[in-house]
Amino acid sequence: VTLRDLSVVTESRELIDRVLTGLFVGGEFTAAAGGHTLVVEDPSNRAPLAEVADANAGDSLNALTAAHEAMSEWAETAPRTRSELLRAAYDRVQALRRQFALLISLEMGKTLADAEAEVSYAAEFLRWYSEEAVRINGRTGQAPGGGGQMLVTKRPVGPCLLITPWNFPLAMVTRKVAPALAAGCTVVVKPSELTPLTALLFADTLRDVGVPTGVVNVVNTTSAGEVVGALMGDGRLRKISFTGSTAVGSHLLQQAAPGVLRTSMELGGNAPFIVLEDADVTAAVEGALVAKIRNGGQSCVGANRFLVHESLAEEFASGLASRFGDLRVGPGQSPGVGLGPLINSDAVDRVEGLVEAARAQGANVLCGGQRGADEGHFYLPTVLTDVPSNTDVVQSEIFGPVAPIVTISDDDHAVSEANSTPFGLVAYVYSQDLRRALSLGNRIETGMFGVNRGLVSDAAAPFGGAKASGLGREGGPEGLAEYLETHYALV
Ligand code: SIN
Repeated sequence: VTLRDLSVVTESRELIDRVLTGLFVGGEFTAAAGGHTLVVEDPSNRAPLAEVADANAGDSLNALTAAHEAMSEWAETAPRTRSELLRAAYDRVQALRRQFALLISLEMGKTLADAEAEVSYAAEFLRWYSEEAVRINGRTGQAPGGGGQMLVTKRPVGPCLLITPWNFPLAMVTRKVAPALAAGCTVVVKPSELTPLTALLFADTLRDVGVPTGVVNVVNTTSAGEVVGALMGDGRLRKISFTGSTAVGSHLLQQAAPGVLRTSMELGGNAPFIVLEDADVTAAVEGALVAKIRNGGQSCVGANRFLVHESLAEEFASGLASRFGDLRVGPGQSPGVGLGPLINSDAVDRVEGLVEAARAQGANVLCGGQRGADEGHFYLPTVLTDVPSNTDVVQSEIFGPVAPIVTISDDDHAVSEANSTPFGLVAYVYSQDLRRALSLGNRIETGMFGVNRGLVSDAAAPFGGAKASGLGREGGPEGLAEYLETHYALV
């Protein structure tokens, strides 16, 4: 494990000391009722980073009250004003990019390079939706039977609950907050209790640029069930947007039913990364590195299984193992580190269990296959070959730096393997024949598809999945529509 520079240690301490650690409710940072706090840990050494207010149901209902009270004025705020506030937030996040990147890296573990990329990605949602806020259009038309004009307009859905995960502590917040605010909705954000600091710095940033009181509220909590249950049972809430596991998403959908809440669900993935026999193997290895190692493999769009044509499998596997072998593993803030820790010990146990089970079923460990240094939650980058396609490491979401390679014999085989799980978020294919790649894409049941690349995420594009990977889209005009209600009048 590589050590951090002393200057980064000092910079980190000073940064964390400046982050406001209360709940952000009604424009103020406040203590939780009863003074409860939760501890945020550094996953690279398990050391406590900060203590943050820990909300209960009452605190979260105060946040909903603030969002509800701010709702009508925010909905009536001129779109241009909402747009300019989002643009100011973009500029401010860019100005603070070092602080955001360092904070993300510290609390989540990803490398500083990945954290910098996340800040750019996150900021882009603010800029893109600032441009979109002034283009929320409806339509008019004569009623076909005559005798009236149909007037179709868009309205904000109302106060929203936004539940965000730990793997992208800033980007998953801006991906929800930016379209919600552009649409004229107010929000209560519940960030992951593992990474609340970034969300709190973002709330402070929004306050600094003048987003009005109550429009954005943040409640950190270790009592997610109680807090979310209270909010979803309150008739003032109109929408929930969730990013996380399919199991939790499915539970939330049931909880959303009695109140008929609007829902957006970005759930689990199990992305196939397909390499056809006409692929450029060198390019495929580089794409695989991005698709697997971005965010330490902790992404729902991370490549989960590598379906490689039998004629190329050996060359691809040894190329990938060699690139993995070059990755220095250590705290994300250390110089030259290419892979940080996983988020916590459960994550390491889980990844280790999947690799060991695959090994017991006949998989060959080409590199890695073990934990890293004891003091942090490290797992070494791992390539598995000869992996039977029915193993858990292929069938379930790994969320770690493990690349299982399954061989395929032809395109039909690739499609049937790709469609063999309940998930359908994204698929990647490498082929030098675009028509062939697109035809594969048409047959694979996913919401997103990448050709000769290992990453498709973009603030302007509709991110989302088919099957058990979710409902709705985030990003692009589709992401804005999730926060709008259609209203029709006949005049
Ligand atoms: C996720 O892993 O949840 C999101 C990844 C992305 O937006 O690229």
